[in-house]
Amino acid sequence: MSVIKPPVLQLFTPGPVAVLPAVAEAQTWSMINHRGKAFQSIYGPIRTTLAKLMACSEAHVMTGSGTLAIEANVQAALPDGGKVLVLSNGAFGDKLNEHCRLYYNAEKKGGDTRFIRLKDAQGWNLARAKEHIDQAAADGYKLLAMVHHETSPGILNKIGEICPYAKRMGMLTLVDGTSAWPAYPFNQKQMGVDFYSFASQKALGMPSGLAVVGLCEDGIKAVDAAPRRTNFMNLKEYRKNAEKNEHPTTPAVTLLYSLEVALDLYEKEGPSAFEARHAKMAAHIRSRLSAMGLKLVIEPGFESSTVTAFYVQKNSDVSRALEGTHKIKLGGGHADWKDTTLRFCNMGDVDMARIDKGLDALEQVKKELGV
Ligand SMILES: Cc1ncc(COP(=O)(O)O)c(C=O)c1O
Repeated sequence: MSVIKPPVLQLFTPGPVAVLPAVAEAQTWSMINHRGKAFQSIYGPIRTTLAKLMACSEAHVMTGSGTLAIEANVQAALPDGGKVLVLSNGAFGDKLNEHCRLYYNAEKKGGDTRFIRLKDAQGWNLARAKEHIDQAAADGYKLLAMVHHETSPGILNKIGEICPYAKRMGMLTLVDGTSAWPAYPFNQKQMGVDFYSFASQKALGMPSGLAVVGLCEDGIKAVDAAPRRTNFMNLKEYRKNAEKNEHPTTPAVTLLYSLEVALDLYEKEGPSAFEARHAKMAAHIRSRLSAMGLKLVIEPGFESSTVTAFYVQKNSDVSRALEGTHKIKLGGGHADWKDTTLRFCNMGDVDMARIDKGLDALEQVKKELGV
């Protein structure tokens, strides 16, 4: 066959994102066997570092995309007959509902998944979630599942208010943080999150292919008690193999090299500086989009530091012109906002200068198309 290389574009996408050169380069390091000392000496510190940074009891790295880690958590959370409350406000909350429904439904010993959906890019906070949690707890629901950063329009849900309350009401908590970590302040224990997960190709700025599960003590107890519903994404197997710092199956070794480098760079920058840098970029994007007369999708108070959706007429034409003429790729509209918005994202290898170039190009295209 002939080898086809991908186009070179500046990505302002919701993931995969532009990868930092040092992180990409690590993927060319020598291959090693995934059993034995060389591998253990790499994977052990990765797990310890992740658990420290996420403030969870255990971190496990899985080969696959964000969905794998979400489903690994969902399938381990409750016994058959378990009942789940899902709070959604976008495409990924809706998908989380589908994952939960697969394992917790009437056919599975009378289980259930209750789905509550906000519209219009409203964010979840405790004031909005409380009545649903109270009712669910009274009805015997044992798990609250929700998304940390809803990527479809870029909403930061206030899990730090909601999850501790759900725990006080006797529920376990499961959070899809696929596009959140490490762009937002996060302390899994303090935030009352029993099961968390994120993916490599988002805020951490790595290639796609790895997903991380973070477990706190109540999550671990649930994993140990869960029935065996899967072989590949079985967290019991991950826990057992982690005792010798190995994986149950063959992991993506070179992606783990990239993860080492990405975590090292992140630690050197420091969590607060990393969060502040992303928040500053996103504030700049919001302010320039508004100055161009483009209306933002997000409800004030729930702003994302990484994904900014804005309404624009002829969104596909704008996107095509940016890609064709300016070699710039924005995120398309998604879910409720598919036909009316685009997303300007700032994750991975981006900086203010590149963001301004991207916004200048958007301004020019907007004028040319008269939108
Ligand atoms: C919040 C959220 N959850 C889940 C997913 C699915 O992740 P993946 O495509 O890596 O499986 C995404 C992907 O964009 C996401 O943003």
